[in-house]
Amino acid sequence: MEAPAAQGPAEPAPAVEITVTSPEQMRELGRRLAKLLRAGDLVMLSGELGAGKTTLTRGLGEGLGVRGAVTSPTFVIARVHPSLGDGPPLVHVDAYRLSGGLDEMEDLDLDVSLPDSVIVVEWGEGKVEELTEDRLRVRIDRAVGDTTDEVRHVTVTGLGERWATADVSVLAG
Ligand SMILES: Nc1ncnc2c1ncn2[C@@H]1O[C@H](COP(=O)(O)OP(=O)(O)OP(=O)(O)O)[C@@H](O)[C@H]1O
Ligand SMILES: [Mg+2]
Repeated sequence: MEAPAAQGPAEPAPAVEITVTSPEQMRELGRRLAKLLRAGDLVMLSGELGAGKTTLTRGLGEGLGVRGAVTSPTFVIARVHPSLGDGPPLVHVDAYRLSGGLDEMEDLDLDVSLPDSVIVVEWGEGKVEELTEDRLRVRIDRAVGDTTDEVRHVTVTGLGERWATADVSVLAG
């Protein structure tokens, strides 16, 4: 770890970096992540096609104990997975086909669902930031030179008041 640079209040909290070596470990990471989340949380997943965003979300859904398997929707942009218990529902958004712009986003009513839900967005950069300042950013990178194509580096950064004091280092396991 390098020493943290001097930070103003708007700077993100130090990130935690986790290396996973299989899809199953990515799901497990999602299950651990679920324990940190509560209604009102927005998680933004970034990483190239096939990086493992949906795989992580699948584990997250398992950890939250929601109904229905998390999949990559072909036409549906946002899918609500209600809780099987008394926890918050998971709203899984794949914004890949959204051109951006608030009007398209507004149709999804994410601002209405957010207070009572955990919202996870793939491909949401530049599209959903206006929902809240408090965002958990999860970046997934393929490991360079990995011939198995199963190794991923995951960087988790909390933005805003909500995450300023939360201990995301527990994700490192
Ligand atoms: N360590 C890993 N973590 C996650 N997925 C992995 C890993 N290693 C291999 N994979 C494979 O990579 C693929 C990831 O697919 P997934 O749908 O989760 O990606 P995605 O980031 O959601 O892609 P898209 O941008 O198309 O939505 C799966 O086929 C999965 O089995
Ligand atoms: Mg996906």
